[in-house]
Amino acid sequence: MSKKKLKFPKNFLWGVSTSSYQIEGNNSNSDWWEWEKAGKTKEKSGQACDYFNRFREDHNFLQELKCNSFRVSIEWSRVEPEENFFSAEAINHYRDVLQDLKKKEIKTVVTFWHWTSPIWFQKKYGFHRKESREIFFRYGKKIIDELGDLIDIIVTINEPMMPLNFGFLLGKFPPGKMNWIAYRKAEKNLSESHKKIYLYSKEKDKKIPVGVTLLYNFFEPNNKKNFLDRWIVLFLKKIWNDSFAQKINGYADYIGLDYYFHNKISFLGRKNENKKVVDVMGWEIYPEGIYEVLKEIKEKYNLPIYVMENGLPDAKDKLRKDFIKDHLKFIHKAIEENVDVKGYFYWSLMDNYEWLWGYNPRFGLVEINYENFKRHPRKSFYEYAKICRENGVEI
Ligand code: BGC
Repeated sequence: MSKKKLKFPKNFLWGVSTSSYQIEGNNSNSDWWEWEKAGKTKEKSGQACDYFNRFREDHNFLQELKCNSFRVSIEWSRVEPEENFFSAEAINHYRDVLQDLKKKEIKTVVTFWHWTSPIWFQKKYGFHRKESREIFFRYGKKIIDELGDLIDIIVTINEPMMPLNFGFLLGKFPPGKMNWIAYRKAEKNLSESHKKIYLYSKEKDKKIPVGVTLLYNFFEPNNKKNFLDRWIVLFLKKIWNDSFAQKINGYADYIGLDYYFHNKISFLGRKNENKKVVDVMGWEIYPEGIYEVLKEIKEKYNLPIYVMENGLPDAKDKLRKDFIKDHLKFIHKAIEENVDVKGYFYWSLMDNYEWLWGYNPRFGLVEINYENFKRHPRKSFYEYAKICRENGVEI
C-alpha cells in the first residue's frame, strides 16, 4: 500500500518533555526526597540521569532530533532552599541551561512546578494553607524576573489534578493527606497562585504564552445507553479533567494537553472492553482518544492547544514508533477539523525517574544506563527525528 504523508502547520512546535526532579539528580531539598526516604516509593531517585551536570550533552540530542523546542522544569527547592532565600547559584545554573538551549536554537517551554516543593514549604505550609498563594507567587515572580528573557512559553503548573488527588485524597504523593477539605483548599490556592503569576507575567511581557498542562483523560461510558455510566463519566470529567481549568478560566493563553489515558466507565466498575495493547504500566494504548479530547478541549475552552506530553514506557522500543505515528495521525485529524494544535512534545527525551514506580518504566527516546550514565538513542529516536525534520508523518 502506498504511504501517505500528513503535513503539519508551519511553525508547529516539535519537542520533547522532561521535568527537573525526574532527570537532574540529588534534589535533596525537595519534599519528594523526604517521601522517598520514608519508603513511599519503589526506588529512590538518587542521581537520576545526572542531567544537572550533563545538560549540554543532553541538549545535543535535541539538535540531532531536529526538534525545535524543549520542555524543562525549574526545581523550586534548588531556587528557594530556605524560606524567602533565593539561591543565586541555582538561578545561574538555570540561566546556563536555558542559554544553552537558546544557543542551540531550541525554544524553551519552562514549567515552574512539576510536583516537587522545598521541604520547608511542605513542613510549614503546604498548598492547603492560604499562605501558599503568596509564597508560590513570590517564587514564580522571581523566575520571571530572573529568567523570563530566556523563556518562550510558561507552564506554571504541571497537571494539578495529579498532586491534588494523589497528595490530598489518596495519600500517595506528598503531603500524603486523605482529606476532601484540604484537597479543595489546595486546588483553590494553587489556582489563585496561577492567576497571580499569569497577571504578573502579562505585566512584564505580554507576548509569552502562559498556561498549565492538564492530564486530560478520555472518559467514555461503557454503555452509552446506561444513564449511570453516563453520569459517572460526567462527574469524572468535571472533577478530574475540568475542575482546575475552569478555576483559571480567562487566565490562560493556551491549554497544555498531557494525554495518556482512555477510561471506559461502567457503573459496575472500570471496564475497558477490547482493551488495546497494554504497556508495562498496564496502560491501554488508545490513540483515537487524543482526537476526542482535542475536540472536547476546543469546544470547552476555545484556546490554542499544545500537546505537552504523550508517551509510553517501552524498554524494548517495540511499540514506540507506531505509538507516536498513530497519535500524530489523530492530532492531524483534529487540526484538519480546525482545532488549533500548535505543538507536540513526546514524553520523554530520556528514561527517567517515574515517581512511585522508580526506574523500571522507560519512557525515553534515549536509553539511560543507570550504572555509568551512558546515553544511547533508541531506534524510535531516529523515527521521531524524521518526523520533526519533515514537519510531517508518513502513515
Ligand atoms: C507526568 C510525568 C510522568 C508521566 C508518565 C505525567 O503525568 O507529568 O511526570 O513521568 O506522566 O507517567
